[in-house]
Amino acid sequence: MSEKKTYYITTPIYYPSDNFHVGHCYTTVIADALARYKKLKGYDVFFLTGSDEHGQKIEGRAKAKGCTPKEFVDPIIDNAKDLWKSLDVNYDKFIRTTDEEHVKCVQKIFQQLYDQGDIYKGSYEGWYCTPCESFWTESQLVDGKCPDCGREVVLTKEDAYFFKLSKYQPQFEKYLKEHPELMQPESRYNEMYNNFLKPGLKDLCVSRSSVKWGIPVTFDESQTVYVWVDALSNYISALGYNSEDDSLYQKYWPADLHLVGKEIFRFHTIIWPIMLMALGLPLPKKVYGHGWLTIGGGKISKSKGNYKDPREFIKDYGTDTLRYFLLSEVPFGSDGNFSELLMVERRNSDLCNVLGNLVNRTVSMANKYFDGRVKKNTNPTELDKEVIAFLESMDKEVDEKIEALDIPTTLKLIFARLERLNKYIDETAPWALAKNEADLPRLNDVLYTILDGIRICSIELEAFIPSTVKKIYEQLGISGSSFDEFEFGKVNEYKVIEKPEILFARIDEKELAEKLEALEKAAQEAAPVTTNEISFDDFSKIEFVVGEVKESKKHEKADKLLVSKVDLGGGDIRQIVSGIANVITPEEFVGKHIIVVKNLKPAVIRGEKSEGMILCSENKDKVEIITSSLPAGSKVR
Ligand code: MSP
Repeated sequence: MSEKKTYYITTPIYYPSDNFHVGHCYTTVIADALARYKKLKGYDVFFLTGSDEHGQKIEGRAKAKGCTPKEFVDPIIDNAKDLWKSLDVNYDKFIRTTDEEHVKCVQKIFQQLYDQGDIYKGSYEGWYCTPCESFWTESQLVDGKCPDCGREVVLTKEDAYFFKLSKYQPQFEKYLKEHPELMQPESRYNEMYNNFLKPGLKDLCVSRSSVKWGIPVTFDESQTVYVWVDALSNYISALGYNSEDDSLYQKYWPADLHLVGKEIFRFHTIIWPIMLMALGLPLPKKVYGHGWLTIGGGKISKSKGNYKDPREFIKDYGTDTLRYFLLSEVPFGSDGNFSELLMVERRNSDLCNVLGNLVNRTVSMANKYFDGRVKKNTNPTELDKEVIAFLESMDKEVDEKIEALDIPTTLKLIFARLERLNKYIDETAPWALAKNEADLPRLNDVLYTILDGIRICSIELEAFIPSTVKKIYEQLGISGSSFDEFEFGKVNEYKVIEKPEILFARIDEKELAEKLEALEKAAQEAAPVTTNEISFDDFSKIEFVVGEVKESKKHEKADKLLVSKVDLGGGDIRQIVSGIANVITPEEFVGKHIIVVKNLKPAVIRGEKSEGMILCSENKDKVEIITSSLPAGSKVR
């Protein structure tokens, strides 16, 4: 007996969140559909998902709640698993980066890279985006903000270990030439090449001393492993790599497909393959970077108020309405818009009008004309043959589209067959045949052709809308069907159920549109009017004082900045970095009595500590430093 071919597919591991939205469901539902499809096609599939639990963000959130990071995360993970269950996501393993096996595996990986000289100690200064847990160089920032999420970044300097990405660039580029299929779609390959490979890879900072909630570096307790090295390793630690039992690793690695969102494509197609290369392991066969699901063209997020728990949609419209929308609507690889109304329109036009109606009409006619019993069509007419051939040609076409990861087109191919069956009903007019005793044998054959056509389409549909397909099989009176029975005529006689349940009740789009509009209006009216006002209490928290500038010099690395020592009275001398080098020279500045915000949280600006802020007045491009004739330490109110 020949061994089954394996198929290893992964989603990214998710940051623990109570605010999972439809966008988060996108990658996982697609991965689930692909995994199911391959399983149905006889592959030995391993489908991995999980959670990415280390890092500064979780540490901070747990602290704010007064619990340990693990205690904080546990219920969130249960919640995520519950969401996947309600979406019929049938993963083979859910890995958590806090799993002991994973932690040990990452420590061994780090140690190996260090022992072989690919990780070395240095010190790191970079712009760090806390939400994204990414370091950026100055030139990568967009308007001084994180290029991925657009949020504030903080200049950070600390001892750290570095991974020699640059050393592997030639070997990696050679590999890419031989395996261009690694990065898909092609447009994203170009982006990676132009933005990262062409300018030359820089060594990567792979440890942090300021992040405590992370995997400890075994040979240096002051450091934890950089979250992305930790997270990416999940794809092999989940298979038992570096553990006593690595049989799953032996069986499934390299992955056939890492499915990821476009914003994390870089980590998966440059850092991860080079890590594997350094470890002497095979690289994944394919990384596919998909686009985002957007709302009104923008990001989905709780802060924007366009976030809704996907379970609410499932409650209102059922799992398969949401699954079908996620799978069919967005041209794969591009961004696509989500709205409740769009989803309902899709449900009505495809699931209700085409699929649901077809099943319902056919089962009802089988009951009405033959007490639910319909025998095999052994005398297919030319029309029947044409319809059967169209049905049977579907599999090859679908296979090709699945190979190209083009699920929306796959679904179109299947729905074209369902539409053909609906048209066949109109062409054969069973209700007219039923009027004539002599036409009853033909009526049987017509109904069989439709019933068996529905069965064949259901085999193809199962991976995408599994619970609906289960209901269809029940209505057809069969326990199920499989690709082994893809041919027409595999069922000798149908005995359909007596009272078919409506698969997708029609939803009134006009009514829904009005309801949604009213909700939006109410939300707008209820939203507090935002102004820039702050309360007196908040204002009185700010301490303004007069300071005397004692020393001042230009910042070594930034033309616009002055680094000054300012006396705030009572021996309180502060170093303050300010963007006034274009306004005043250091020599002119010394001796001035200026106004300073004394209790501003200290920050490091371009590597220099700054402990306060100097007030200026500004009009167009004219800036003046506000001064006072009173001595240092005088209060300003
Ligand atoms: N923890 C990292 C992944 C580490 S993998 C080694 C992470 N997590 S995430 O929770 O932020 O994102 C998980 C997945 O959800 C990503 O593939 C991301 O692209 C996807 N999506 C989040 N919002 C999305 C949309 N609005 N639309 C489509 N997918 C989006 O990144």
